[in-house]
Amino acid sequence: QTSQAEVVVFSVPSYACQRRSTLENHNAVLTDALALLAENAELSEEEGRGVAFRRAAAVLKALPRPVTSMTELRGLPCLGDHSLRVIKDILENGASSEAESTKQSERYKALKVLTGIFGVGAKTADRWIREGILGLQQLQESGQTLNRAQQAGLEHYDDLNQPVTKADADVISEIVERAVVSVLPGAQMTLIGGFRRGKLSGHDVDFLITHPEEGREVGLMPKVVSWLESQGFLLYQKTTRNSYLESKDGPGRPSSNMDRFERCFSIFKLTEKERRRTKHPETATENGLRTVSTPEPDPHSRVQISERSRCEDEELEVDQTKQAGHKLWRAVRVDLVVSPISQFAFALLGWTGSKLFERELRRWAGHERNMSLSSHALYDNKQRIYLRATSEEEIFAHLGLEFIPPSERNT
Ligand code: GTP
Ligand code: MN
Ligand code: MN
Repeated sequence: QTSQAEVVVFSVPSYACQRRSTLENHNAVLTDALALLAENAELSEEEGRGVAFRRAAAVLKALPRPVTSMTELRGLPCLGDHSLRVIKDILENGASSEAESTKQSERYKALKVLTGIFGVGAKTADRWIREGILGLQQLQESGQTLNRAQQAGLEHYDDLNQPVTKADADVISEIVERAVVSVLPGAQMTLIGGFRRGKLSGHDVDFLITHPEEGREVGLMPKVVSWLESQGFLLYQKTTRNSYLESKDGPGRPSSNMDRFERCFSIFKLTEKERRRTKHPETATENGLRTVSTPEPDPHSRVQISERSRCEDEELEVDQTKQAGHKLWRAVRVDLVVSPISQFAFALLGWTGSKLFERELRRWAGHERNMSLSSHALYDNKQRIYLRATSEEEIFAHLGLEFIPPSERNT
């Protein structure tokens, strides 16, 4: 027990982009509850409330030890009345009644299940719920028209709702690398998103592709996609064209936070064969690469492997899968983005995340520096010039922020 006089006062800067947030979290019970309420707000299209809960959770996550009393929170930024109520409830009663009742609510559960379908957002889910559709079975029976993304999402629902491991992300990196160098020698590919921040699992794998010679990246995405398609790696893909140059938005004032790079939302088919091809089998085994249901009794898996390596034919593979009682591949969401080298540093910073870190960077730029930051550029509204950068470090310097490496952007 700490007496009033000894109460530790934590000091945390107000913007998440001023803090070093590793994957470590000493206040998971508190932040889990706040994250759930944030998610519920986002799924209910109450963005402001969602951000408020996210910011509060990020502050608690930045603390060097568990919070034990409300007095320790004095002077901390971003903790609104609502968040403080939730925290108090947990400290006093062990759980947040609001978070618990939200988690149990039919609406939240339905929103989770329905938005768990790739291609289904909060709006669509809400419409379906109002029509009485609360689950996958009801959705299928309803005869609702699904777009191509949603059909693929439903088809691969279980796989896509299973976390992607770092080991599988590495396997996919290798495939994308092969694709990129095959279609444009000299082109470069970088792992972005959560895996660049050092996360051990994620909901997808994100890549940024560029070429050191400006302009050579033009038309690259369709070629990469064709290559992947021809090799049978894609279960689904939708490519959207770069519209940055054509945009009517003023300089540094994009109409939304959505960027305008050429990008591809895809679903990869990751096979056992590809998993075994990886150059680092030791890491692969250590990280539990295997998701095949048999826990690898050695002689057994030998047989399977030798059988499998011979099967080039899809049908034979499917047949064996059925016999073995499990399939020999999984679906994985993969995002590809192509950027010209002149915008690479901005794209890299903008796509590494976390989402809150990105949001806070833009808020810092606007509110504290009168600058506009996007995944394409940094514009100084006062001097009316674009600030060039060839590295993330330079962008932080332009913004007057201490450099925070990717592994410490896990807000
Ligand atoms: P998980 O995939 O859930 O493990 O986490 P993640 O951090 O990788 O999230 P996600 O793949 O959704 O996004 C990766 C980064 O890309 C985040 O920083 C997002 O802010 C950013 N991002 C996602 N979509 C867009 C977009 O349309 N435009 C821009 N500029 N950034 C985006
Ligand atoms: Mn990701
Ligand atoms: Mn992504």
